[in-house]
Amino acid sequence: MTQTWRLDDTRQTLVLGARGDRLAEVVYWGPRLPEDEDCATIVRGGDIDVTGGMLDVNPELSISPEATRTFPGQPGMVIRGEDGMPILPKFRFARAEETPNGLSLHYVDTSNGLRYAATFELDPQTHIIASRSVLEADRSLHLHWLAAPVMPAPQMSDEMIDFSGRWCGEFQMNRTAWSAGIRYRENRTGRTGHEHFPGLLVPCRGATNTQGQVYGFHYGWSGGHRMIAEELPDGRRQVQFGHASRMESKPRTRFASSTLYSVFSSDGINGCAVSFQRHLRDRIITWPDASRPRPVHYNSWEAVYFNHKIDELKDLAAHAALLGAERFVLDDGWFGMRDNDESSLADWVVDPRKYPDGLDPLIEHVHGLDMTFGIWFEPEMVNPDSELHRAHPDWALGGEDQILGRQQKALDMSNEAVRDYLFDRISHVLENHAIDYIKWDHNRVLPQPDAAQTMGSYALIDRLREAFPNVEIESCASGGGRIDFGILSRTHRVWLSDSNDAVERLRMQHNAAIFLPLVVTGSHVGPRVCHTSGRTINIRFRAWVAAQRHMGFEMDPRELTEDETAVLSRVTAWWRENRKWMGRADILRLDSPDDAVIAEQQLAEDDSRFVVFAGKADTSSQIAPRPLRLTRLDPAAMYRIDLVNRDDINHLSRGDTLLKTDAKTVSGSYLMNHGLILPWSFPETMWVIEGTKL
Ligand code: DGJ
Repeated sequence: MTQTWRLDDTRQTLVLGARGDRLAEVVYWGPRLPEDEDCATIVRGGDIDVTGGMLDVNPELSISPEATRTFPGQPGMVIRGEDGMPILPKFRFARAEETPNGLSLHYVDTSNGLRYAATFELDPQTHIIASRSVLEADRSLHLHWLAAPVMPAPQMSDEMIDFSGRWCGEFQMNRTAWSAGIRYRENRTGRTGHEHFPGLLVPCRGATNTQGQVYGFHYGWSGGHRMIAEELPDGRRQVQFGHASRMESKPRTRFASSTLYSVFSSDGINGCAVSFQRHLRDRIITWPDASRPRPVHYNSWEAVYFNHKIDELKDLAAHAALLGAERFVLDDGWFGMRDNDESSLADWVVDPRKYPDGLDPLIEHVHGLDMTFGIWFEPEMVNPDSELHRAHPDWALGGEDQILGRQQKALDMSNEAVRDYLFDRISHVLENHAIDYIKWDHNRVLPQPDAAQTMGSYALIDRLREAFPNVEIESCASGGGRIDFGILSRTHRVWLSDSNDAVERLRMQHNAAIFLPLVVTGSHVGPRVCHTSGRTINIRFRAWVAAQRHMGFEMDPRELTEDETAVLSRVTAWWRENRKWMGRADILRLDSPDDAVIAEQQLAEDDSRFVVFAGKADTSSQIAPRPLRLTRLDPAAMYRIDLVNRDDINHLSRGDTLLKTDAKTVSGSYLMNHGLILPWSFPETMWVIEGTKL
């Protein structure tokens, strides 16, 4: 007997099949198949031949590959009894539940007293397949590893792309050639981390940003993940994602993976990117008010650090408001005795030395400038030099002799008393002040990975969200150390990086947009001399790079010259005029013919307009700018295109290129097949081109 199940949307088909009552396998995942395709034949179509040196039948690459089937690769789960003895599951089909876009497959292993369920939900609008697995047992077990339902990877692919990074260098793309064996990523830091964004792209041969077949994956979990991309000896390939192994510290009778978000695209990396961006924005984030435009931020950190003086902060707010800021975020330094990063974390009481009349005078001043007020917390952390640590040293996670990170320890978030304390302290601040935003930081890795810690953080955020539904939260962890769809189901913005260096940001934003839409991606105009790279960057480039995402300022605006003030005010006004449609637009990565140019096109939801940002990150190797091809336009339509920042053309550009003097009208076909030749420019220049469909 062969069983089959099928999920379709307009773009893709996913077929699962099983022989007899064995675990199902994904036997097809790719472009949509015809309605009348016989799925039983598709199951047979996946059979590979048997020759010398092979088993008599090839073990199935199931949604949870089993060692008991002599599976030649990594199994989908690794468990032990409380006595430490390994348990090798052997699941049998129990039942399937089908909904129009969903499937739940249930299995039992009666001899070991286990139940396993895998669920798949295909979103017909965003094309994301959300899948999860759950393991239940009659007696308590130790879990070493539980993969979300295992997906196959195509053999017509030469490489995979995953993500790594560092502080001030998030979202670096790594390309690794497929070869026999495993590409194994395991994040044991206890938080999502700069180093290990949990994402994977598998492009088929020839795929680029704009064309070809690409498979995309993201595991939505903030405690550190494990990824296995494995080529089996017979050539088949599997992709497994789950929590980092052995992070369930206690035996239990129920374990669940987090959600794995998968998508197939037949139009390049952009097909995956658009799906992830839309799914995150429209399905995952829980906005207090989705129609409210993203306000321009001003963040105090790089202007004053810990040195809070109320009159100076008021002055900064006034300058920021004149530039166009709409939300003032008071960063680290307002509580306890926090004059540097050595003390006071967890003592969430306003510092009376800096704020003798509390925060209200500053908040009222900010409101008077028509800005809302946000505030920084780092709830999961404690300094040994703090009132809390002196009172409850046992509330800290990890041993006494542990290595500190930024002079701090993590609190044990699995402890209810810790969560209650934090809830009380944070609620007290929110209840007594008109605050609508929290910047929620997490500046160190954990002493060891522990799922209970992440669940504890989630529980605290959920409780605060319930109590203060109108407060938005920004997820920050020394910049982009906690970015994933798990934390983003409870928060509303990420601080992508502590680097405000526009050259570095340009690349990071470009790569992060494979997963993140504009509305969640914080991007600030930093100081003229960047504090984390030492690079001096002109205001035009800094402003336009910030205007690519959720714009803000993070510097002392009193350093701005008259010209810089004018430029920044102009770009901010442009952003405010355009943010509504840009907030719903798709960010499309362009295939740049010049390695020095990083370019994207933001295409409106109704295709009526677009804006291209072409940023020059370096000096080009050739002398003349190469034509930049656009994407996803209507080939038959005419578009009016114009250079927004014509004033930025410099004196070394002497020719008469298309957009040099005024707007022009050309077809979508021309823009996509020939492309635009932009004026010659210095490195650290951004060209901004607006297009309107006629
Ligand atoms: C790290 C963050 O990434 C910064 O933006 C800032 O909030 C500091 N922490 C404050 O300590």
